[in-house]
Amino acid sequence: MTNKELIETVSDRFKDRFESEPLIVFSPGRINLIGEHTDYNDGFVFPAAIDKGIALAIQKSEAHQSTVLAFDKDETYIYDLDAIQPLKNGDWKNYVLGVVAELQVLGKNIGNFNAVFSGNIPGGAGMSSSAALENSFVYGLNDLFALGLSKQEMILVSQKAEHNYAGVKCGIMDQYASMFGIEDCALLLDCRTVTSQPYKIDFKDYELMLINSNVKHDLAETAYNDRREVCEKVSKLLGIKALRDASKADLDLIKNDLLEADYQKALYVIEENNRVHQFSEAIEKEDLETLGNLLFQSHDGLSNKYKVSCTELDFLVDKAHKTPHVIGARMMGGGFGGCTINLVLKSEVESFKNQIAELFKAKFGRACSIYEVKLAQGTHIVKSK
Ligand code: GLA
Repeated sequence: MTNKELIETVSDRFKDRFESEPLIVFSPGRINLIGEHTDYNDGFVFPAAIDKGIALAIQKSEAHQSTVLAFDKDETYIYDLDAIQPLKNGDWKNYVLGVVAELQVLGKNIGNFNAVFSGNIPGGAGMSSSAALENSFVYGLNDLFALGLSKQEMILVSQKAEHNYAGVKCGIMDQYASMFGIEDCALLLDCRTVTSQPYKIDFKDYELMLINSNVKHDLAETAYNDRREVCEKVSKLLGIKALRDASKADLDLIKNDLLEADYQKALYVIEENNRVHQFSEAIEKEDLETLGNLLFQSHDGLSNKYKVSCTELDFLVDKAHKTPHVIGARMMGGGFGGCTINLVLKSEVESFKNQIAELFKAKFGRACSIYEVKLAQGTHIVKSK
């Protein structure tokens, strides 16, 4: 569905169901060029908002309860604002409840509301449909109830919703990219200061292609939190705030005190953080070869050191590596499934698509999905009432 269709869908459904005019918010998903699992290490990342996301129709309600309708799942949830509790992990309602609860923690007074949302980001693809959903609600509620929150404050609400209601101790990258995205730009984000520098992205004869393995690992959330714990443990041993402050030489000094697996994980983070800087320099120099190599190196680290890849993702990157007109590829996002991001020669996009689709089918007996994305504006109001 196009964004326009998405917006019309939620707007029409809202009017049918609640017989009033809603406020419409669009909140995008994100890609990440490079800098994976560096955000919760106070490091650097290079994400961008995309032209796919969540459309939310929302309005205040006089009723004594709030009603949220998930259009794609055809599920309606009615709840009391003063009795919010996290539900079981993996439930979409946690994202909404989490945002409302975290606003309440800030002492923000919100009343009851009705909402309808729908999205065109494939779930579990590593394109942050959850951050898009959280941001759409916090943005909509901030506007409707005149809460006076800045975008910076709103993304912290979204992140806390993810921590405390969805159970994922995520960094700030997804919520930031979704909220602050700029058309045609990627954002070099410093996750310690939570400030970014936009880079206009033009890969010349090359373009970005996402290939979704359509795999979602059940243990992804637990494994994510485990990775974060390892990083925090190593930082503590090093006597620093976060791995962003460490060099390989620092890490080597405590190598004997670490399990080999933990050493490798911390090393990956240090190297990946350095790659983000090399990547931004290569963009400035329009050095596409270096950009591509950094993507392959990033994947290698994610797979062999940080251990967050899976057979399907490794297969996709390996095939990309062996294709001369793909100059870089790596898994994207938290890992254990989802997409790879590829830098492909424009004139060969169609042939590569067909080739990889066939190879994947032959190997795994099921299809991968392929998307081309545009870099787009962050969370915004489409229509106000
Ligand atoms: C998920 C998290 C982000 C980030 C990435 C990995 O998307 O939500 O905060 O850690 O994984 O880079």
